[in-house]
Amino acid sequence: MSTTLAPSLSDIWDADRSWTLKTYSEHHGYEAWRRAIHTDPAKLIETVKDSGLRGRGGAGFPTGLKWSFLPKPDGGPRYLVVNADESEPGTCKDMPLLLANPHALIEGIAITSFAIGSNHAFIYVRGEVVHVYRRLLAAVNEAREAGLLGENVLGTGYHLEVTVHAGAGAYICGEETALLDSLEGRRGQPRLKPPFPAVAGLYARPTVVNNVESIASVPGIIRGGADWFSSMGTEKSKGHGLFSLSGHVTRPGQYEAPLGITFRELLDMAGGVRDGRSLKFWTPGGSSTPILTAEHLDLSLDYESVGAAGSMLGTRALQVFDETTSVVRCVTRWTDFYAHESCGKCTPCREGTYWLKQIMHRLEAGQGTESDVDLLLDVCSNIEGRSFCALGDAAAQPITSGIKHFREEFEQGLHTPAWELFPYEANAAFSGATR
Ligand SMILES: Cc1cc2nc3c(=O)[nH]c(=O)nc-3n(C[C@H](O)[C@H](O)[C@H](O)COP(=O)(O)O)c2cc1C
Ligand code: SF4
Repeated sequence: MSTTLAPSLSDIWDADRSWTLKTYSEHHGYEAWRRAIHTDPAKLIETVKDSGLRGRGGAGFPTGLKWSFLPKPDGGPRYLVVNADESEPGTCKDMPLLLANPHALIEGIAITSFAIGSNHAFIYVRGEVVHVYRRLLAAVNEAREAGLLGENVLGTGYHLEVTVHAGAGAYICGEETALLDSLEGRRGQPRLKPPFPAVAGLYARPTVVNNVESIASVPGIIRGGADWFSSMGTEKSKGHGLFSLSGHVTRPGQYEAPLGITFRELLDMAGGVRDGRSLKFWTPGGSSTPILTAEHLDLSLDYESVGAAGSMLGTRALQVFDETTSVVRCVTRWTDFYAHESCGKCTPCREGTYWLKQIMHRLEAGQGTESDVDLLLDVCSNIEGRSFCALGDAAAQPITSGIKHFREEFEQGLHTPAWELFPYEANAAFSGATR
């Protein structure tokens, strides 16, 4: 447990023109890269393994271990692909990071590419976020002009090309294999695994796919050492992470803290629930992670503890909802999102999300039928674990967890509209900054 923040990726966000190479360099920027390029690549992978860094894109897979899955070099190309597609409702850490400090990612890309023996890295960035795309392009150019990327990096003979690619705005393109298809110019749909990207990824070549925050954490680990990173966090969930507090909270924003901090501690730092109201429910890691309630305020935010509480740490997107919020209305909005974003490749998700949407809208309007709540659970059980990718599970989880904690509210949807039970005016009337 911790009551303090651990600004590492966010430490220069308040500095003047924090996104420039000049400011980044004044704060130890590219020191790690200058050291890493003269280090044995195997040693770099070992350091990241020892640090205990786990993927920050949601699933928490050990980063160094993922890198070590690449087959031995065969003389052909191998790639690093950075997943900057961030599109899940509530998840909002990578875009602020890229806007405020894009060089942390670029330095991480340089070190990681060198470590895995890649000469070409791609950043797949969510297409709607044009200002982030532009900032990334500018930062890559700055680094190239400074000799930190491109031909003969820092006079060592190493060559590294970095391509920034803007997606076209599909949540499914954040799934790593759909992302690779999209990057290759195809319609973004998940691929059958195996083969995993480490063996046959981009253009069927060995590929590492990592989240923005995972790769941006690498320079700090190389500079500070594995022990520095692993001194933060819990036994199995090491290091610092960006926690994004949004919704009905007094001071929403990014709070970078050691994993294992409790939700209560973060909420206190953020000034509590708006206007002194009470907490009704929250998500630990975005809309795909089962909702939790005020019972879970003292939950340690690490992979194991959140899993044991029946949810997932996910992307540490803590969406806070107070007592004026209708669970049914909120879950309906998420369900609309998943139905819209279902890529249609597999039947349980394509058909199931369509049905879930119909039923949720009936309940929201107070026009549900006797069997609707059980029907929701039935449809969810036919999606969860039976879909081709994790988007199906993600669509089912807000509903199953919503019914688990607030079944009576779903049952009220048989006779009373959500807008009568929880009028919009009550939800909107407050003096906080999150209106
Ligand atoms: C529907 C869906 C959307 C996803 N979106 C993202 C995303 O926007 N960013 C991300 O890093 N990972 C996303 N993921 C997880 C990726 O598939 C992958 O696990 C991750 O990029 C691996 O990086 P990491 O090991 O560094 O966490 C998504 C997964 C699914 C199923
Ligand atoms: S689960 Fe949904 S998003 Fe994933 S492959 Fe099936 S239809 Fe596409």
